[in-house]
Amino acid sequence: MVSSANSLLEERRARQRPVIGSSKTYVLGESDAEAERLRVLDEVYGKTSRALLQRVGLRTGWRCADLGCGPGHIALWLAEQVGATGHVTGVDRAELFVNLARSSAHQRGFHHAHFTEADAIAPPLTDATFDLVYSRCLLSHLPDPLLVLRRMTALAKPRGAIVVEDIDCGGGFAQPESPARMRHLEMYQAIVRRHGGDPLLGRKLPRLFRAAGLTEIHIEIVTPVEPVAAVKRLYPLTLARLKPALLKAGLATDAEVDALIADLHALADDSSKTVSSCPLVQVSARRPA
Ligand SMILES: C[S@@+](CC[C@H](N)C(=O)[O-])C[C@H]1O[C@@H](n2cnc3c(N)ncnc32)[C@H](O)[C@@H]1O
Repeated sequence: MVSSANSLLEERRARQRPVIGSSKTYVLGESDAEAERLRVLDEVYGKTSRALLQRVGLRTGWRCADLGCGPGHIALWLAEQVGATGHVTGVDRAELFVNLARSSAHQRGFHHAHFTEADAIAPPLTDATFDLVYSRCLLSHLPDPLLVLRRMTALAKPRGAIVVEDIDCGGGFAQPESPARMRHLEMYQAIVRRHGGDPLLGRKLPRLFRAAGLTEIHIEIVTPVEPVAAVKRLYPLTLARLKPALLKAGLATDAEVDALIADLHALADDSSKTVSSCPLVQVSARRPA
């Protein structure tokens, strides 16, 4: 009994050991508030993510992996699409998100969806066994995105699909432009870089796909615009989640961040202003045969 408890403890410690090439921490944190922000993020981009996956040919019986799956919005949808003859594995380093995804899968009776707490750089998955290897908004938080893309490629079966969607914070607009949105994006870029990520990763994805040796590369860029109300709400929600990291890094003061969050909420409430999200670059390809 004691030895099985010890081995569980040892397993958990092993999962928490830093993985070479990985980031130290996820800059937006691991909390219920971040889980809620990820729900809103899915409201903004989810429709286009699902359309992309359908274009790639997703069908019943497919085996899929979602790296950095968060609370599992896309992984659970994949489970619905592939049905009980298929299989979905979601991987995330955050225990809270993995538990949320597991309990949603349980509630929905998805016995073919499994969620694992692990680093995306070294997921405990078998090479060449997946029809689809997917990731959304993970690579921009990692210091070596090509390493993870190569890992994703290795997981796919020959001719299997690799799909990555990631943000490019250099775009988007408000009309008329909002100084609060611009300042928020400056802060976002600075803090993501401090944590070893790349807030402009989106534009670099096609080059990374070529470097990983992938074929049949397709690229799309989506920039959802309100009236999807969540587009405007995502800005203050994101800044609120970044606040602890910004303060710790000395990139802003408490008062400055709070004032900016209030301005971003005011922007969201102002129906005279048109606001877009940051562009999401969507890249799909195949592992060579
Ligand atoms: C922006 S969220 C995206 C979540 C989900 N893919 C979505 O689109 O809703 C990034 C996710 O990556 C996870 N993450 C960050 N670094 C990771 C790593 N090295 N390995 C695995 N997951 C990681 C975070 O815990 C978080 O859930």
